[in-house]
Amino acid sequence: MSESANSPFRPHESDLPSVRPRVLSGMRPTGKLHLGNYMGALANWVKLQDQYECYFFIADWHALTSDYADPSQIANCTREVMFDYLAAGLDPAKCVLFQQSKVLQHAELNLLLGMITPLSWLERVPTYKEQQENLTHKDLSNYGFLGYPLLMASDILIYQPQFVPVGNDQTAHVELTREVARRFNQFYKLDGHEVLPEPRVLLTPSPKLPGTDGRKMSKSYGNTIQMTDPEPVIRQKLKTMVTDPARVRRTDPGDPDKCPVGDLHKVFSTPETLAKVYDGCRSAGIGCIECKGWAADALIQLMRPIQERRARYSETEVDEILKDGSDRARVRAEQTMVEVRAAMQLTIQTAAKETIAK
Ligand code: TRP
Ligand code: SF4
Repeated sequence: MSESANSPFRPHESDLPSVRPRVLSGMRPTGKLHLGNYMGALANWVKLQDQYECYFFIADWHALTSDYADPSQIANCTREVMFDYLAAGLDPAKCVLFQQSKVLQHAELNLLLGMITPLSWLERVPTYKEQQENLTHKDLSNYGFLGYPLLMASDILIYQPQFVPVGNDQTAHVELTREVARRFNQFYKLDGHEVLPEPRVLLTPSPKLPGTDGRKMSKSYGNTIQMTDPEPVIRQKLKTMVTDPARVRRTDPGDPDKCPVGDLHKVFSTPETLAKVYDGCRSAGIGCIECKGWAADALIQLMRPIQERRARYSETEVDEILKDGSDRARVRAEQTMVEVRAAMQLTIQTAAKETIAK
């Protein structure tokens, strides 16, 4: 059976408006995604899939830049992240969902862009020194790690997108991407035209989301609420969450603006609940346990449809969606590479043309 022709995951061309601006974004498969990933990226991507031609992928090669010594978790994480993408509501009939390492053209473009990228551009990317200093338990003095942003530029430019929806932490990488594209276009043209348009950041509006310890929710702090956490786990995590330090005793008034639980309420609770939180906290009319229970309610309500959607997919289906999406991404990436190779004069044309002419 031809799986490409009648795949249930393939959109019918007629369902889609013909020319939509293209966007591309991705995440590294470093573990199950959490509420911060959902609010900071996925929820936004889900909205984009109706207005844009979307390519969303899992950057498994990028995971190798830091986890090269123990790659044992990467493939599993890739599948888990794909589950999270689908659970969040990304729809393979609306957008292309794929795995980086299944589209070898990214590596080819990375190699070619490497020829024109000054080392100093990579060395001055702020995340380079930061990460090296932060992840001291890993030796990151590798070529691959230095090249991280250039591989990212290749991921992006190979789809010739207009926009890259990312958070603030990635904007320096997109800036480098634009510089590399500009340099490429200065050196090489195809029939007088530029091959690699400069994409722009589509900044994801992301609310301040604290983890259970009050710091920014982040996998590296171990303070996350995961998208797969069942109800009792969410309730338990909320119970141990830090609160306004001024509220030592039940009778002490507190301030939701100085409390991480208050921040959660601001993002997830209804205006009515939020009003109860402000009144009750400031007058010491409610206890933190009760207040945290309401926050847990709101989170559980948000997560329920996400977890239900996740449960509808089997591993086999997820693998198939990833394979199908990667096949589609490859076709689009190859289209760009044909132009890139021609612009860089790697294509021997004359002989072939003469053969056809005869
Ligand atoms: N560096 C990104 C992150 O850590 C992941 C990534 C890799 C990416 N390639 C990309 C994001 C291309 C957007 C576009 O989140
Ligand atoms: Fe925080 Fe709620 Fe306790 Fe106030 S009542 S300190 S907002 S947990």
